Amino acid sequence: MVAVPSELERTGFAATHRRDAWWVAPLVQGVGLATLISYANWAAFQGRNYLAGNYLSPLYSPLIIVDWFPFSPAFLILMPPVLFRATCYYYRKAYYRSFFLDPPACAVSEMRRTGYRGETAFPFVLQNLHRYLFYLTLCYLPFLWSDVVHATIFDGHFGVGVGTLVLLANTTALTLYSFSCHSARHLVGGSLDCFSCSAFTQQRHRAWKGASLLNARHMLFAWMSFVSVCSADLYVRLVASGVITDLRLI
Ligand code: FES
Repeated sequence: MVAVPSELERTGFAATHRRDAWWVAPLVQGVGLATLISYANWAAFQGRNYLAGNYLSPLYSPLIIVDWFPFSPAFLILMPPVLFRATCYYYRKAYYRSFFLDPPACAVSEMRRTGYRGETAFPFVLQNLHRYLFYLTLCYLPFLWSDVVHATIFDGHFGVGVGTLVLLANTTALTLYSFSCHSARHLVGGSLDCFSCSAFTQQRHRAWKGASLLNARHMLFAWMSFVSVCSADLYVRLVASGVITDLRLI
């Protein structure tokens, strides 16, 4: 009897992955994520140096200060964006692989010993809240863009500093991350049986194609936006604490 090679074996994919150091990607992702999460937590706990003149750290935006809340104001606003990121389809893949080794990579055997329940049981069933967190965190974008506008006003006059560009880059990255979300793609083009049935559905088809273009780069935007949020906070923090001076460009 002649054994028929599987598709994976014919393409050499399985053999390559057996030979390859499959653990490199989960390790690099895990270290990157752990570093960014640690920094964001540390910065949120500080409760100071989040405001430098007209620059506001994105980890504290929108800024809400109330007398009755004795902790860092970041804790009043951070939970929705944190949960949005934690339930993101891309980050789920990244941290399931890096932190739970479940599975560690494509074509690598499962290490679990218990039965697989996917995301149907607590706590992972809560991942299904992602689309509602998407709607909620969309409300943050106007505040972040208004922070960028505010960062162009120096003593009542228009200006641009390095901090302005840092906040602009961060808000752009966060906007791309939000609009490349799978839920955004579903929002504009989902629940439709026919894209060509009316002028409105044709418009939705165009929007869906645009959302799909962004969606194809979601992983890139996920990393860019996480790095940019932490970098923007660090920049504002360094200026606010006097370690560096903001450079005015215009
Ligand atoms: S899938 Fe990543 S933010 Fe929605």
